[in-house]
Amino acid sequence: MMLGFQGLTLTIELAHVGSDLLTLASKNINIERMRKIMQTIGYAVVGTGYFGAELGRIMAGQEGAKIVAVLDPENGRAIAEEYGCDLETDLDTLCAREDVDAVIVATPNYQHKEPVLAAARHGKNVFCEKPIALSYADCDEMVRACQEAGVIFMAGHVMNFFRSVHHAKQLINEGKIGKVLYCHSARNGWEEPQPSVSWKKVRAKSGGHLYHHIHELDCIQFIMGPAAQVTMTGGNVAHRGPQFGDEDDMLFLSLEFGNNTYAICEYGSAFRYPEHYVLIQGTKGAIRIDMCNVGMTVHTEEGDEHYLTHETKEEDDDRTRIYHSTQMDGAIMYGKPGKLPPMWLHSIMKKEMAYFNGLMHGEKPDDEFRDLLNGKAARAAIATADAATLSLRENRKVCVSEITEGCRRQTTI
Ligand SMILES: NC(=O)c1ccc[n+]([C@@H]2O[C@H](COP(=O)([O-])OP(=O)(O)OC[C@H]3O[C@@H](n4cnc5c(N)ncnc54)[C@H](O)[C@@H]3O)[C@@H](O)[C@H]2O)c1
Repeated sequence: MMLGFQGLTLTIELAHVGSDLLTLASKNINIERMRKIMQTIGYAVVGTGYFGAELGRIMAGQEGAKIVAVLDPENGRAIAEEYGCDLETDLDTLCAREDVDAVIVATPNYQHKEPVLAAARHGKNVFCEKPIALSYADCDEMVRACQEAGVIFMAGHVMNFFRSVHHAKQLINEGKIGKVLYCHSARNGWEEPQPSVSWKKVRAKSGGHLYHHIHELDCIQFIMGPAAQVTMTGGNVAHRGPQFGDEDDMLFLSLEFGNNTYAICEYGSAFRYPEHYVLIQGTKGAIRIDMCNVGMTVHTEEGDEHYLTHETKEEDDDRTRIYHSTQMDGAIMYGKPGKLPPMWLHSIMKKEMAYFNGLMHGEKPDDEFRDLLNGKAARAAIATADAATLSLRENRKVCVSEITEGCRRQTTI
């Protein structure tokens, strides 16, 4: 619903819209910006399984937001009834709708590209779940399509919205731990035989642990910048057979950033001792963000200081409880349609949707999240993951530029 300011003078409009806008007008906010603030944004959700259904519910609760349509061949009907919106069956029809301003893409990982390109084609803004794509070439095409169409493209890299990640970045910027030399992430657990194999366990559909759990790699590159060279070792060491997918269950990435700075990322479902953390080592101290025994520790000569990983103690404790009490180890646990996200994740999803909705209402992006919107974070994560994949396949160290420039060569030929 637009409030239709066009053609009226500012004075007449202000008489109608009240004192809040008088305050805005006094701050020289222009009519286009005021129109955006007052607008109800129409959202469509493509893929309404575990994550998409909840993103839609959360977005529907935001101010000036309305879910107008969903598309999901299996779970769309029930969710459309729940939201009270339309069910569409064709992407172009959905994206062409006049009441759709933005599309939230939460299809399986290998099916992100088509809806993102369709949205861009129809001039619609996009929020796309992680991992943006399963190859740098696809990621680049998706980001470029949105940029060329002049629409917002927001990468759903959720760790950037963790209170602890924001806090860690602040402390690093203030010099609290000196120069960051090294990061170490672990996202490990043990997977038991599954009654049915989810697409999340199939390499061609999810990309396996590295792509599906790209959060830690993205977080480290957010802190250290993009990696220059990668070596990856690992394989499927303990999960073969019909009750498992075909992903590698043990992966070790060694990242080199130049200037004597490094990182190691461990991923997999062949680790009997579950771990889930990001450890940041600096010249004057260290920061450990623990997502298993949930909390953040800042270690310096002055001693250890303890902070929250998430928004509240209740959320941290709830995540700790889940990690220590569920059948599948928390770091490698996954949702499915009909399941609801845990408290900590729900709260981050809310921050993410509020942020995207704010952008849609004309808010300016903060510096901290700029790379989620200019394609840099999406490209850096997928380029490094592709370089790691190539390293494992060819048993050699790979420069990330081999991926990014290789891709550029292909597209300019
Ligand atoms: N940020 C996070 O922490 C987080 C957590 C979970 C999932 N995710 C991401 O969200 C996305 C969805 O994951 P999920 O857990 O909801 O999976 P899911 O299997 O629960 O849901 C996927 C849904 O997409 C639908 N679908 C399949 N193909 C489609 C198509 N071509 N068009 C429209 N709908 C289609 C399926 O019917 C299903 O309902 C994935 O990219 C995943 O990586 C992110």
